[in-house]
Amino acid sequence: MNRVKVVVTGAAGQISYSLIPRLVDGHTFGDKIVDLELVEIPQVVDKLEGLVMELEDSNFPKMGNINYTSNFEEAAKDADWFLLVGSIPRGIVFNGKKIEERADLLQINGGIFVGQGQAIGRFGKSDAKILVVGNPANTNALIGRHAASNDSQLWMAMTMLDSSRARSVLSKKLHIGISDISKMIIWGNHSPTMYPDFENIVANGSPGKDLIDDMDWVNNKFLPVVQQRGKAVIDSRGASSATSAAKAALDTVVACENPTASGDCFSAAVISDGSYDLPEGIICGMPLMTTPEGKVEIVRDIVLSDFAKGKIKISTDELIDERAAVEDLLSK
Ligand SMILES: NC(=O)c1ccc[n+]([C@@H]2O[C@H](COP(=O)([O-])OP(=O)(O)OC[C@H]3O[C@@H](n4cnc5c(N)ncnc54)[C@H](O)[C@@H]3O)[C@@H](O)[C@H]2O)c1
Repeated sequence: MNRVKVVVTGAAGQISYSLIPRLVDGHTFGDKIVDLELVEIPQVVDKLEGLVMELEDSNFPKMGNINYTSNFEEAAKDADWFLLVGSIPRGIVFNGKKIEERADLLQINGGIFVGQGQAIGRFGKSDAKILVVGNPANTNALIGRHAASNDSQLWMAMTMLDSSRARSVLSKKLHIGISDISKMIIWGNHSPTMYPDFENIVANGSPGKDLIDDMDWVNNKFLPVVQQRGKAVIDSRGASSATSAAKAALDTVVACENPTASGDCFSAAVISDGSYDLPEGIICGMPLMTTPEGKVEIVRDIVLSDFAKGKIKISTDELIDERAAVEDLLSK
């Protein structure tokens, strides 16, 4: 099939301004013509007229039909991909209350994902792929997947940005290029508890556990820098990562659309099925691969050290707590 239909929510936001043009530039989906459905909340949706004008004026080679709407169900019809970027950020005043607590954020954003999940399950393609970017991404994806109740669709939460950040720090440490590092796995939650697995990377053919023999650097530099990178960007920019998040979303799409090179893997969070003794029924960062037939699967032959298992448990415990905080949304 030479067309692909892509729904993007939060289309008037920062990430989307970087993301959307690159969906139609011929890189992300190769030769395919890309039909776009841009979704925003009713208060903002009219702003998308300007974005559509810009996209038309850019003469992108692969741009197909383009539509903007605040009606998610309409947008979802027969879509192949859903990039769920839209969410309410921390600090915003919502229904008269300033949203500061993670529990409030989980409830408000989780509520959005019930409706969107139901619509994706009913109206999206049976083999649709869904990438949740909006935070808290893992638990939003869990809620959406539950509401969709359609096991042939693939729900992912984005951890590619964490993987890109880890790769960048490791390439500096090892004095090698970013593309010399493969198998960069992020385990757990897209939050400061996530675990970037330096031991299982392969850098110029050698395993990370042999290359990085400096636990002081791992504990005091590598892990804190990668885990706190999102906050560092916010502290400097006064806004959350946008262009790097957009690139990571595109990288995730490309990784799912093309077979993974033998021996490599990529990072995203998917529903846990007990692999690696991870608790079942959470959306957890794991190593993935795309088969030559286009199926995205968990890579199951990674060996985890006791150090890694301890770090991953901190993150999966957090995901279990998040799941408990939205239990009401998972019973709908
Ligand atoms: N997973 C990651 O690695 C990662 C990285 C960076 C940012 N993020 C998250 O991505 C999200 C978006 O970031 P941003 O910088 O683009 O934020 P932004 O505030 O600039 O844009 C978000 C947009 O979403 C829209 N929106 C809210 N609810 C919606 C709904 N129900 N349907 C459609 N649109 C809706 C808002 O109107 C807004 O325009 C945030 O939650 C942010 O924390 C995730």
